[in-house]
Amino acid sequence: MLHLHDLHLYPLGLLWADPSLLAAWGGISAAGGASLDLYKTKRDIKYCFYDLTNNIFWRSVVIKTTSAATTTTTSESTSSSSSKSTSSASSSASSISTSSTSAKSSTTSASSSTTSSERHFSSNPKCKAAVAWEPGKPLTIEDVEVAPPKVHEVRIKIIASGVCHTDQEYLTGQFRQFPLVLGHEAAGIVESVGPEVTKFSQGDKVIPLFLPQCGECERCLSPKTNQCRKNWANTQAGVMADGTSRISYKGQQVYQFLGVSSFSQYTVVPDTSLAKIRSDAPLNKVCLLGCGVSTGYGAAVKAAKVEERSSCAVFGLGAVGLAAIMGCQAAKACKIIGVDVNPERFEKARLFGATECVNPRDHAKTIQEVLLDMTSGGVDYALECVGSPVVMTSAFESTRDAWGTCVIVGWSESEAINIKVEKILMGRTLKGTYFGDWKSVEDVPKLVDDYMNEKLKLDEFITDQLPLEKINVAFDHMKKGIGIRTVINLWPEETTPTVDTV
Ligand SMILES: NC(=O)c1ccc[n+]([C@@H]2O[C@H](COP(=O)([O-])OP(=O)(O)OC[C@H]3O[C@@H](n4cnc5c(N)ncnc54)[C@H](O)[C@@H]3O)[C@@H](O)[C@H]2O)c1
Ligand SMILES: [Zn+2]
Ligand SMILES: [Zn+2]
Repeated sequence: MLHLHDLHLYPLGLLWADPSLLAAWGGISAAGGASLDLYKTKRDIKYCFYDLTNNIFWRSVVIKTTSAATTTTTSESTSSSSSKSTSSASSSASSISTSSTSAKSSTTSASSSTTSSERHFSSNPKCKAAVAWEPGKPLTIEDVEVAPPKVHEVRIKIIASGVCHTDQEYLTGQFRQFPLVLGHEAAGIVESVGPEVTKFSQGDKVIPLFLPQCGECERCLSPKTNQCRKNWANTQAGVMADGTSRISYKGQQVYQFLGVSSFSQYTVVPDTSLAKIRSDAPLNKVCLLGCGVSTGYGAAVKAAKVEERSSCAVFGLGAVGLAAIMGCQAAKACKIIGVDVNPERFEKARLFGATECVNPRDHAKTIQEVLLDMTSGGVDYALECVGSPVVMTSAFESTRDAWGTCVIVGWSESEAINIKVEKILMGRTLKGTYFGDWKSVEDVPKLVDDYMNEKLKLDEFITDQLPLEKINVAFDHMKKGIGIRTVINLWPEETTPTVDTV
């Protein structure tokens, strides 16, 4: 019988047991060792064993803690074969490997129970991913391995991914560990699910989410915020709940970005960071709802709560800013002023609902002074969609006193903004938004419905579609202000991923 004291607990819930003990205990190969994951249900503590040598063999153990003596029950699944399968990017999930499974269970204690969460674990696939090896350097396309999903995880075939300014920010920045697979604005198809996953199954169309919604925590239960913190620390650190990434290159761990990493043909995400969407949604369009468009649109309609006949200024006319303009128009604002230093964005801004556009470089006065003049005292709502602390101050100061609201949408991890106390005292509100204040899991499918029902534009944001191999062109265009959003097509000529049989 396996006892609790035979298992050694390591940080982040990862357990390792002596390989010889496992071999003695029941046939798990000692040569390569085995990893174990701890997960808890209401009644039991379960351990999931991964045989690292055979990889396609797994065993779960239920250790009942309710009785005086800790007892174990084992159940075993053996995947004995794996084969390549073909797939269609447009309509179905491709199974990286298929496996035949035989299950048996042996009870080692009369008072033990059996597990109910057996899943097929396939072998590690090789697929293409754009890897950032060092900050500021171009990405390189590599054959990475994407390990099977562990408990409460889902492996997705990524079909399309937008390139967001935040990807660029973290490519140049010093805030994440490298090597790293960036990308967080995507859509794909569920390829396989790990143990305890109940809400997703193979073939589901999904949008991975950099902001989770577990539905159970204090924040999820509050209508005041969308900021669930499930898996927050580990996904910000580039790893999954067990402290490791599912992506590797020749045995070297490659970090995941915001728990997503969509610049990879396959990725693994927590099941609380995934929205299931309708099956007729075009993935190469709705991927934009994974970040930029949802964020900007929500910044206007949910965070700012723009009112009918109000005046608005939107700073920065990239995808996020244009979506904010779309939100201001949906809220029936009567004056919507687009502000950008790149006048080539003005035509699109008008298409999305801007009533006027201003280039700060065309004026001797500050942009806040220009806007105060244009609106006889300031706008009711200002939305900063650039990510510059200087522009944030301008946006705040361009709001009307007494009730003006400024929403910070642009991203900055370490910089501070300069705000005069007097401006706050005069009744202005300054707030920020993460993912447009949407409750991610429940709201993203509704935004997909809005697009399908032609209440929300998406196609108009997409100015380029490129294969993964050309991803550096997308970053280059973003830096130069060419186009709005580039969508990366991960499977331009549907290919079959190879299977690493270890
Ligand atoms: N809060 C969130 O949850 C969230 C989510 C997504 C993106 N973001 C952030 O939103 C910002 C916009 O993202 P994007 O993908 O639309 O970026 P983008 O690069 O496509 O667009 C930025 C726009 O700002 C303009 N700009 C630059 N300097 C300016 C200035 N001084 N005044 C006016 N305009 C200026 C650029 O010309 C460009 O048109 C980024 O900072 C991004 O990181 C935040
Ligand atoms: Zn983004
Ligand atoms: Zn939560």
